[in-house]
Amino acid sequence: MSFSIIGTGMYVPPKIVTNDELSKFVDTSDEWIRQRVGVERRHICTDETATDLACKAAINALENCGCAPGELDLIIAATVSGDMASPSVSCMVQRRIGAECFAFDINAACAAFVFMLDTAAGFFKRGRVKKALIVGAEQMSKIVNWEDRGTCVIFGDGAGAAVLEAGDGYVDSVLTTKGGDEVIRIPHFIGKSPFSTIRPQEPYIFMEGQETFKYAVNAMCSDIRKLLEDNNLTADDIALIVPHQANKRIIDLAAARLKIPTEKFYVNIQEYGNTSSASIPIALDELNRSGRLKRGDLIVLTAFGGGLSNASCIIKW
Ligand code: COA
Repeated sequence: MSFSIIGTGMYVPPKIVTNDELSKFVDTSDEWIRQRVGVERRHICTDETATDLACKAAINALENCGCAPGELDLIIAATVSGDMASPSVSCMVQRRIGAECFAFDINAACAAFVFMLDTAAGFFKRGRVKKALIVGAEQMSKIVNWEDRGTCVIFGDGAGAAVLEAGDGYVDSVLTTKGGDEVIRIPHFIGKSPFSTIRPQEPYIFMEGQETFKYAVNAMCSDIRKLLEDNNLTADDIALIVPHQANKRIIDLAAARLKIPTEKFYVNIQEYGNTSSASIPIALDELNRSGRLKRGDLIVLTAFGGGLSNASCIIKW
């Protein structure tokens, strides 16, 4: 016994920042960002935080399936841009939505949604929970260096959530870590200990763009090949692939290498940019609400990011 996704929700802050607006304060252009990344606009927090976005996405997901907060047995959340180191986002969601179950966060950057699903699968398998809420929420605008055109044009803020219920909708997964901080890192504030000899680093996202790009394409291709092979499936058996929205060119290149038509890959990066742990649940919610998913459809979720980590799974809708 694993789980099925019975509800989805998302929330993005109302403020929209276009590429043209960005080009007023960093040396970039709408044309460059559209062509090299695929982003046209992103939603950016003004008076909201990651916790606020998380709670709104969570409530939307619960309403989507008519689940009361009191029915939840587990909440897992993920963020790299939360308000506080403690309490975790999941604990704040638990209180604000009025749930009573235990809650914890995981840290797996942009691959977190699949890591959360896989973690939840263990609780379902042991019969420990009957309903769970999974939330990815990010205020990336807080940790982006707005003077670095190599990163600030890519990211956006938002949250996505899913409600899981005991069922047979989690088919298989592949989780990979290649630990290291050379390619992507987000340093923490190092404190002010009078004894520390460690030099502070700027608390912004650092990313080697081209290395990340290569890692992402290879990760998506090897994960999807493995999932199909291990489950005796071909791409024709898969209704849709929902990739982490990091760069449209990453998705196009992976599709070409896998010889899978790009139409099978869901893309919404143009609207939101890269919302890290929120990108896949936001995409799932858009698909769910637009009626594009049919019960029984096999869907591949595929994600990669800081860690470095990549994680992909097949779900049965
Ligand atoms: N606007 C205009 N020019 C830009 C720019 C911007 N926002 N960012 C970089 N450039 C310039 C560079 O300075 C460079 O100029 P030069 O040739 O004069 O030196 C040129 O564009 C090419 O830079 P490069 O870094 O090779 O660009 P790229 O095609 O690799 O694109 C990224 C850069 C970051 C968009 C791309 O590498 C990428 O998307 N990587 C993956 C990022 C990712 O997935 N991150 C999330 C992981 S979860």
